[in-house]
Amino acid sequence: MRPRMEVALGPLRLRNPVMTASGTCGSGLELAPFADLSRLGAVVGKTVTREPRIGNPPPRTFETAAGMLNSIGLQNPGIDRFLSGVLPEVVASGYPFVANIAGESVEDFAALAARFEAVRGTLPVAGIEANLSCPNVAGGLDFSVDPRRAAEVVGALRRATTLPLLAKLSPNVTDVRPLARACEEAGADAVTLVNTYLGAAVDWRRRKPVFGRVMAGLSGPAIKPLALFQVWRASSAVRIPVVGIGGIMDAGDALEFLCAGARAVQVGTALFRTPTAANDLLDGMERLLEEEGIADVNDLVGTLRPRAEPAP
Ligand SMILES: Cc1cc2nc3c(=O)[nH]c(=O)nc-3n(C[C@H](O)[C@H](O)[C@H](O)COP(=O)(O)O)c2cc1C
Repeated sequence: MRPRMEVALGPLRLRNPVMTASGTCGSGLELAPFADLSRLGAVVGKTVTREPRIGNPPPRTFETAAGMLNSIGLQNPGIDRFLSGVLPEVVASGYPFVANIAGESVEDFAALAARFEAVRGTLPVAGIEANLSCPNVAGGLDFSVDPRRAAEVVGALRRATTLPLLAKLSPNVTDVRPLARACEEAGADAVTLVNTYLGAAVDWRRRKPVFGRVMAGLSGPAIKPLALFQVWRASSAVRIPVVGIGGIMDAGDALEFLCAGARAVQVGTALFRTPTAANDLLDGMERLLEEEGIADVNDLVGTLRPRAEPAP
């Protein structure tokens, strides 16, 4: 019998736990010719900011032994052009879409959420994911290393919208638990983790960094064990659902994250190799759950929980 795949991230109900990760498939429109996105739990869009951003100068990506580094710098058209030029097409396409936003201040975040709230009647998004953790812009990690700052942003977002609210956290901290708890207390419906790990690449012959800012974000299979640990750790510290990301390449990887405590997963770097990766992964999850006799995907979530670390 086919397993039940619906999951809930607070008020956000997904037909299954498979989402795409922000920044790895544009707004979904770019991927739609290759994969049936309406089958997925949700597509998470590239981060949108208040003003347009041209992003960082090239090179912006670099392949590593088991993953990739990126330094895109949040290139995006800005909220005005996103709402007028992109979102109408996304909504017409009919796949569930979560908007990802970032700001340089608490006020920026709240203003962006208010814009999505204002068009809710005509251009509804399924939810908002706040990117508190971009390593590729100046100050981008500020909201993700200090629980008070994270709570300020989430609190302001909560006041600006009743849309489902996900807070995306950075793994570049000593302990993610105080941050996850701060987001929960401030009103987040779920926490998403991880964003990329800080990394660098060097061209030693030229004695130059590959990326202008030296620092870039590492993703892909290289980070999977690290991300899995962060998800397990965070999910033991909060009651709200955790969305797991980081190096998920196939169905087995996804089920490991659910076991470690994630209620849903996101697929990022895998899409660069195989545009149908998220769809393939969904098919594989259903097959593996059925083989294992698990009737409801939710039954697997957090099954490692009894061995969680004691609270600090
Ligand atoms: C090229 C690229 C661009 C990204 N852009 C964003 C972004 O705009 N906003 C965001 O929240 N995360 C962004 N991310 C991070 C991913 O959403 C994800 O958290 C990270 O890549 C780990 O997942 P993965 O190993 O499956 O790729 C980006 C990642 C990549 C590889």
